[in-house]
Parts: sequence; structure tokens; C-alpha cells
Amino acid sequence: MLGIETSCDETAAAVVDADLEVCSSVVVSSIALHERFGGVVPELAGRAQVEAVSPVVAQALDEAGLDRAAPGVAAIAVTRGPGLVGSLLVGVAAAKALGLAWGVPVVGVNHLEGHLVAARLEHRDLVAPVVTLLVSGGHTLLVVERTEGRYELLGATIDDAVGEAYDKVARYLGLGYPGGPPLDRLAATGDPAAFAFPRPLRDAGLDVSLSGLKTAVVRAVDAAPDAPVEDVAASFQAAVVDVLLAKCARAVREVGAATLSIGGGVAANAALRAGATALAADLGVRCALPSLAYCTDNAAMIAAAGFGRLRADGASPDAMGADPSLALALR
Ligand code: KG4
Ligand code: ZN
Repeated sequence: MLGIETSCDETAAAVVDADLEVCSSVVVSSIALHERFGGVVPELAGRAQVEAVSPVVAQALDEAGLDRAAPGVAAIAVTRGPGLVGSLLVGVAAAKALGLAWGVPVVGVNHLEGHLVAARLEHRDLVAPVVTLLVSGGHTLLVVERTEGRYELLGATIDDAVGEAYDKVARYLGLGYPGGPPLDRLAATGDPAAFAFPRPLRDAGLDVSLSGLKTAVVRAVDAAPDAPVEDVAASFQAAVVDVLLAKCARAVREVGAATLSIGGGVAANAALRAGATALAADLGVRCALPSLAYCTDNAAMIAAAGFGRLRADGASPDAMGADPSLALALR
């Protein structure tokens, strides 16, 4: 399966074989173009996708040892949403052109399903039910998979996505964009107990709310402008991780899950990974974390999801388009 992912600022292509062994995975990012704007500029992202898509696909084929003209892939999986429409269109058009040229089926994949299955690239035979916390820049979902490929929504954010909260707090602290990685690194050097930030909805239900926490951070910094920034970062991160792990614990208990998994860009967070590993051990369930390269946007996860979609739904119609607000099919 050739996977193509162009939903935002990353252009990615990967070749994954039927037992989910990754043969190649190439990711380039246009993030440097967006940094000075403090966020991804859709117009610039789409233009960068057009420039990057052919070289990235060619590199993924080369690294997998396949012939560019006749690679012998069985199918092409491509992200068709959600994301920035100008970015998505580039990947969808490229996939359809290659599908025609090589005479292979094209299957449209939901980007969120890619994040949900990313852990499977390195953890085969996940024991169901699997509870997955999906935490990315645009989404925060808690889902259970009792049967492979069928998702039930357990909870979601009612305001900011976790990555979005990281990016906003990081911008406020002057850490640049995207803010998750630098905030994560800084937090490791600070005191997580320096500020007693609120833990919104921690002890109630499976939905998540982060906007009150974000506001509390801004207020605390305004009130104590000389406070060490690493202490603010560590205290914010402790509150976020505390809330997310409480949700995971409740979800695992409620559904009687056998496996706890995390996906999405924020799954690269060191504190969340360590916390999830410890929590799963406490609860006596398996923990399936993707390695860092498969947490943030990549095409190997899209190829992996493509196998399941092709089996379940068959190839996408020739007239498939991109859908910037594509919803995850939930039961
Ligand atoms: O999944 P992703 O690559 O793109 C989306 O589909 O949104 O996630 C990007 C998000 C950004 O908000 C970024 O700040 C966050 O993931 N992120 C992190 C870390 N690495 C990336 N957040 C916290 N800690 C990290 N180490
Ligand atoms: Zn993503």
C-alpha cells in the first residue's frame, strides 16, 4: 500500500506491506514558512504541498526499493479529510493520477482513523477492546474499538483540542510555533507543583475541557510575570496530563478495555507517554504507544488505515473528492 498524507503542512508518503511492516516513510514539512505567522497559513501550505508531493512520493518508492514507473503496489491510500482543503486536494489529485497510471485502486482515508491505527504499525495483535485517546492539533477524542475498524465515541473536547491548548499556551510563553515540543522540553526542567492550575472536568465523565486551564495560565503569568517559565510550563503540563490520564482510566474501567492506546501529535509528549505507561500497568492492561515518528502526521498510518478501509468498504469512487470537515464514522 502506498500511503499519501497532505492534510495540513506535512507532505508525507509511505509504503507499508500487508502485515503493516513499514517499508519506507517520508515526511517533509512546510512549517518553517508558517513560523513567523504563529500558525499554518492555508494558502502557503497548499502551494508547498504541490511542490513537495512528487519528490516525496518518489523518495518513498525509492526507499522501499520499488520502480517509480511500475512499483507493483496493490493500492493507494490517501487522506481525504479532515484538514485544509487546498492541502488535501493535492494529495487526493496525486493519488488519483497515480492510481490511473498504475491501474490500481485508490482508497480515501479519514486522517483521524490514521492516528487511531498508528499504534498498530508497531504493536501487532492489539487485544480488544482498545481504548484510544486521540490528541492532535485539531482533535481530542476518546474512542473504543471493540471490533477492528468500528469506532465508538466515548468523549471529546468541548472547547480546545489538546494540541491547540499547548500551542496557545506556548505562544503566550513566547516559545514559538508549534508549541507542543518546546513546551514539553521546557516542562521537564520545571516544578510541576509551582502553580496549582485547575483540572477542569477531571472527575466528571469522559469529555475534556481545556479553555479554563488556558485562561488560568494566562492569569497566573499576568499576576507573577517573573515566575520561572519552566515552572509555568511544568504546572500546565501536569494539569493537562492529570486530566487526560483520569479520562483514560475512567474509559478503560467503564468499557473493560484490554488495551490503552494513544495517538496524534500530542502522543509524542514525554509526560503523557510516561503517565499512560504507568497507568496501564496500574490497571493491568496493555499499553500501545506509537513511536514518535508515527504520532505526528505521517503517511504510514494512512496506509495502515487504508488496508482496513479497502477490506471493509472497497475502493473509493473515481469521483472521490477532498472533504475538509470529513467526520469519523462512529457507531
Ligand atoms: O497530529 P498532528 O501532527 O497534526 C494534527 O493532525 O493536528 O498534531 C500536531 C499537534 C500540535 O498542536 C503540536 O504542538 C502537538 O501536536 N505536539 C505536541 C508534542 N509534539 C507535537 N504537544 C505536546 N507535546 C509534544 N511533545
Ligand atoms: Zn494529525
